[in-house]
Amino acid sequence: MTKPIPQPGIMDIALYQGGQSHVAGVAEVIKLSSNENPFGPSPKAIEAARESATTLHRYPSTDHASLRAAISRRHGLDAERIICGVGSDEVLQFVAQAYTGPGDEIIYTEHGFSMYPIIARMAGATPVIVPERDRQVDVDHILAAVTDKTRIVFVTNPGNPTSTMISDTELERLAGGLPGNCLMVLDGAYAEFVDGFDGGAGLVDQFPNVIMTRTFSKVYGLGGMRVGWGYAAQEIIDVLNRVRQPFNLSLTALAAAEAAVQDEEYLQFCQSENVRLRVWLSAELAKIGVLSDPSCTNFILARFVDRAEAEACDDYLKTQGLIVRRVAGYNLPNALRITVGDEGACGRVVAAITAFKGGAA
Ligand SMILES: Cc1ncc(COP(=O)(O)O)c(C=O)c1O
Repeated sequence: MTKPIPQPGIMDIALYQGGQSHVAGVAEVIKLSSNENPFGPSPKAIEAARESATTLHRYPSTDHASLRAAISRRHGLDAERIICGVGSDEVLQFVAQAYTGPGDEIIYTEHGFSMYPIIARMAGATPVIVPERDRQVDVDHILAAVTDKTRIVFVTNPGNPTSTMISDTELERLAGGLPGNCLMVLDGAYAEFVDGFDGGAGLVDQFPNVIMTRTFSKVYGLGGMRVGWGYAAQEIIDVLNRVRQPFNLSLTALAAAEAAVQDEEYLQFCQSENVRLRVWLSAELAKIGVLSDPSCTNFILARFVDRAEAEACDDYLKTQGLIVRRVAGYNLPNALRITVGDEGACGRVVAAITAFKGGAA
């Protein structure tokens, strides 16, 4: 008997593993496994989402003009060269779908975001993993892996789950070293956590094959709304809009994101609290021998003696109602990724890991 057969590569896609949010038998948990904003969205975004409820019978805008204008004012970018997606994931998917297919290669780095191989295979392309150096993206390794089949290089900066960052100079060297028919996608999901960093917008203006992606899911606390955006040369945006569904963003999502991006005061509060608590968290853990690289994000990558210790600590944290993220799947088996929570959450993480390590809780 014949049966429907999926396209080649589809069954090679490993299903995305989201951050856990429940622990069996533990009623009250603190979720520190998905790099969400512990303070939630701006009250203005909540209000805008609420107000949108009265017009839910209307289709949303197809061109996202109002949200793009707000993003453009906030970042000083040309609104015509911005595209919005259902999370930055969707923008990344547009890029792979529009520019790659069977036989093409997509490069990403050893500890790169786990959606990249999924997105590559969704387009029928082949994901190619390149080593990092001491948990940092390495430009020479990437350039050495480029072949005449390479069409996209995905770079997360700052990185997830590494939390490290490479300099503008290194990124410029990478962009300059890639062939003109190869896109460089700068995934800036965590760009807002770095004071003064433009996420790569300057490089987009300098190189016609560079794309920057950003999200409302992290510092803006709108992961549940699913809004992201990309910025690139006009020619690229015109291509990406052809594979975008006309009503990809709901009117509630559009309203919430537009209000969020305009609330600069709340943004600054989230940014400064993140820095304050991240510094404290990493310093306290370092005192008990749990080291992490200086973080440029809203999480730290805590390193343990070996995989067994990391997993035992994760198990212990769960018994304490604290859910963090194992990152063995990112080739970091001896580490745990811990989102910087609010003050209470950070205090509980330090107390629990101290107890686990055998010190005074
Ligand atoms: C590096 C990186 N890129 C992209 C995303 C996707 O974010 P979004 O919620 O905008 O789809 C994430 C989310 O965790 C991420 O960590």
